[in-house]
Amino acid sequence: MTVKIGLLGLGTVGTGTAQILLNPTGRNPLLKEIKISKVGVRSLDKPRQVEFPPEVMTTDLEAVISDPEIEIVVELLGGLEPARSLILKAIAQKKHVVTANKAVIARYGDEIYEAANQSGVYVLLEAAVGGGIPIIKPLKQSLGANRITSIIGIVNGTTNYILTKMTTAGADFNDVLTEAQQLGYAEADPTADVDGLDAADKIAILASLGFAGRVKREDVYCEGIRQITATDITYAEQLGFVIKLLAIAKGTEGENSQQLQLRVHPTLVSKDHPLANINGVYNSVLVEGNPLGQVMFFGPGAGAGPTASAVVSDIMNIVAILQSSGENQGLDPLLSCIHQHFCQITPIEAVETRFYARFLTKDVPGVIGYLGTTFGNHHVSLESVVQTGFRGELAEIVVVTHDVCEGNFRQALEEIRNLEAIDSIPSIIRVL
Ligand code: HSE
Repeated sequence: MTVKIGLLGLGTVGTGTAQILLNPTGRNPLLKEIKISKVGVRSLDKPRQVEFPPEVMTTDLEAVISDPEIEIVVELLGGLEPARSLILKAIAQKKHVVTANKAVIARYGDEIYEAANQSGVYVLLEAAVGGGIPIIKPLKQSLGANRITSIIGIVNGTTNYILTKMTTAGADFNDVLTEAQQLGYAEADPTADVDGLDAADKIAILASLGFAGRVKREDVYCEGIRQITATDITYAEQLGFVIKLLAIAKGTEGENSQQLQLRVHPTLVSKDHPLANINGVYNSVLVEGNPLGQVMFFGPGAGAGPTASAVVSDIMNIVAILQSSGENQGLDPLLSCIHQHFCQITPIEAVETRFYARFLTKDVPGVIGYLGTTFGNHHVSLESVVQTGFRGELAEIVVVTHDVCEGNFRQALEEIRNLEAIDSIPSIIRVL
């Protein structure tokens, strides 16, 4: 029995998806039973890499959803609107939805899954995180026996490319960003990537699945990579680290319940850590659970082919269910999203982590002693203090702490900032 699907969007990922579905030979036989019966696009005049008969193409996006023959709507428009409204309308019409839209799911997953569960339809999103890397289904199903303790990912290829290039070429952020834009690795408006917003969307989704609770996108603490300098990368290298933009979801036992740390920030990662060697535009996600231990996923996090591979796998999942189940069967709980409660999020001040901080100070006696005493007064234990040289007239001192409470560390910094001998604190970066 052929299942008819409607595509919303025929950009990079939409085109990749159509190319797989129109060329099923040598792939899973189920693909031969999927027919793209409508494609909704913003303009019919744009040149396309895939051709459809004129009656399949339309600019009336709602017509794709209301077509009674279409059972699965594949939303690949991107952006918040009209994508969110169209997803909700498709659900209301009892269509299953496949989407790559991390921004919509991270912000409106609550509303969308509530509606989907009421309508008895699936909303699948393998392509929303990690492009071609299978990570959503493993978190929902393959790792389901585990109590997940942490999910740590390099989930943004643009920033990983920039940091890798800064590391290998000793180049500054702005120069590498310009080059990445010229090569097409970075968007003309790079905000979502370089400010960590894209990674924050993705970790909100992964955390919700791994920790089986809803997550508010605004609860993800987020810092991007604009402030990372070639100087810090060099210091990190000398200390045995590389700098990566990490998206972290970590469970900790709170007073009465489990608390969740949710954060995206540049991080010093020890060179022997598995994530330290994920370079260029690649993505990777390290999941730790009990009793499994660690498992790491790696692969292309973006691009037409890899992302379409994830989209089509979701379509196939739904088609397989449609073909095998009779009427009135409930949703498969391993494929749907049924949790109701919100996770309790640890405020960033209460997070325990190590820090790297770089100070520019006047070259006067007692400065290092003052730093040590002030940190000590705030229960911040230091692992190393290095003064390698001068920047102009100023001494440059780099400090790495042990695991400390972030609130204590910040209070110590406030006190240190006020000291006459301290010129500035150009960098503060967390250490994994
Ligand atoms: N802009 C994202 C990245 C790809 O740079 O990884 C799409 O999620």
